[in-house]
This record gives sequence, C-alpha cells and structure tokens, in this order.
Amino acid sequence: MKITVINGGMRHGSTWHCKEAILKAIGEHTETEVTEFSLPRDLPHFCVGCYQCFLKGEQSCPHAAFVQPIAQALCQSDLIMLASPVYGLDVSGQMKACLDHLCYQWMSHRPSAAMFRKLGLVVTTTAGMGLRRTGKTMRLSLKYWGVQKIFTFAKPVAAMRWEEIPDRKRKQIEQSAQVTASGILRAAGRGARLRKPFFRSLLFAMMAGMQKKNDWNPTDREHWEKQGWLSGARPY
Ligand SMILES: Cc1cc2nc3c(=O)[nH]c(=O)nc-3n(C[C@H](O)[C@H](O)[C@H](O)COP(=O)(O)O)c2cc1C
Repeated sequence: MKITVINGGMRHGSTWHCKEAILKAIGEHTETEVTEFSLPRDLPHFCVGCYQCFLKGEQSCPHAAFVQPIAQALCQSDLIMLASPVYGLDVSGQMKACLDHLCYQWMSHRPSAAMFRKLGLVVTTTAGMGLRRTGKTMRLSLKYWGVQKIFTFAKPVAAMRWEEIPDRKRKQIEQSAQVTASGILRAAGRGARLRKPFFRSLLFAMMAGMQKKNDWNPTDREHWEKQGWLSGARPY
C-alpha cells in the first residue's frame, strides 16, 4: 500500500506517535511504501492568494516547487494521512497553509481523477478540546478532493508530550490504532466494491453543471472537458 503522510508539525509528539502506531499496524499486514512531508519544513510558505493556481494552473503557484511534490505524492498514494495536533481548537497553522495551497484540486475547481479511488485518514490529538473541529477541517479537504472513504483517529491525550501519557492510555491508543488499521485494510481490500458516497456523486454532478456554464475560468473548464466529465464521464 502506498501511503502519503502530511504531518502538520515537526514534533515527534503525540500526534506523530499516533500516526506511527497506525503505520506500524498497517505494515504488520501488508507491504507499505510511505512518503512523508513535515510542515513547515516541506512547505514553508503561506498561500498568498494570488489566484494563479486557479486561473493559470497549479504550476503557476509561486510555491509550486514545494506544493507539487506533495500533490504528486498524494495522487500516487492509496492512502492519504493528514495529521495535525489541535492548536487553538483547530489544525496547526502550517497544516491549514498546506490545505490552502491545495484548494485548486477541490471539486469546485480541478479535482484529480485519481483522488476518487483513495482512502483518507485524519489523525489528531489534543490536551482536552477541539478534536471534532480539527478532524473536520482535515476531513473537509479530503472530502472535497473527492476521496472515496475517510477514517478519523482523534485522541484526547491530556498531555503536552507523548512521554507524559500514562502507559495504560498509550496501550489503549495502540489498540485503537490496530482497529483503525484493520478498517483501512478492509476498505483497501474492497477497492472498487466500496460504496460510492452519495454526497460526492451529488456534488460532482452539481459541479459538472456549473462547469458547463463556466465562462469565468477556462483553465478549470478545460480540465473538466479534457476528462470527458462534461459529456457524462465520471471518475468514480
Ligand atoms: C499552540 C498550541 C495550541 C494548543 N491549543 C489547544 C487547544 O485549543 N485545546 C487543547 O485542548 N489543547 C491545545 N493544545 C495542546 C495540544 O493540542 C496537545 O498537547 C497535543 O496533543 C499536542 O500534539 P503533539 O504532541 O503532536 O504536538 C495546544 C498546544 C499548542 C502548542
């Protein structure tokens, strides 16, 4: 299984250890090839809102040299893992900056056909609050990129450091990682037989309708035309 991880931080803290536990659990059952990006090291910029990605194409982003290796790895993977600690009741700023750079591949713009066959996983930890909202921020990107099935691993660790977590709780987290890994492996085994999310089909049809009328962004429209999506073809 090809896995791409985006770490929304550089610390080897609780979120990183949760992510590692899941990778280890998956690796016990299948061969894995893991590509990891850690932020801000691998994308040390904020989106500047220049609209070049939307209007001229993703290669025109001033930060394309950082963004495109991430986007390509995502496209080549079977499982996409987004991992962020809770900061101020949401994802870390560096994770949000990365997700902003990838907005051009939302279904409202130029989704990649490859995304529609992928599994996603969001991983987050908090001292106490904010798991739901943080998970949702990452899940929304995966969902609007078109990802087929999304898993969530969210743990209230009540700690500033992984080492502070009592042994018993760390064991529970590791057991929980096994359960998440089993779910992912089952879904990967089902492949094309996985249920197609109704919301995704509905949104895709709405976006196709919108792109047919699109006279404001030829780059987006051409993308949809080229894939045959304006003549009824579907990526799922
Ligand atoms: C800048 C910052 C903001 C944080 N904001 C919150 C918060 O809003 N709610 C909360 O319960 N914990 C918050 N925390 C605690 C972390 O979410 C928690 O310790 C998390 O497990 C850290 O993950 P890590 O070990 O992977 O870095 C914050 C920590 C930092 C450094």
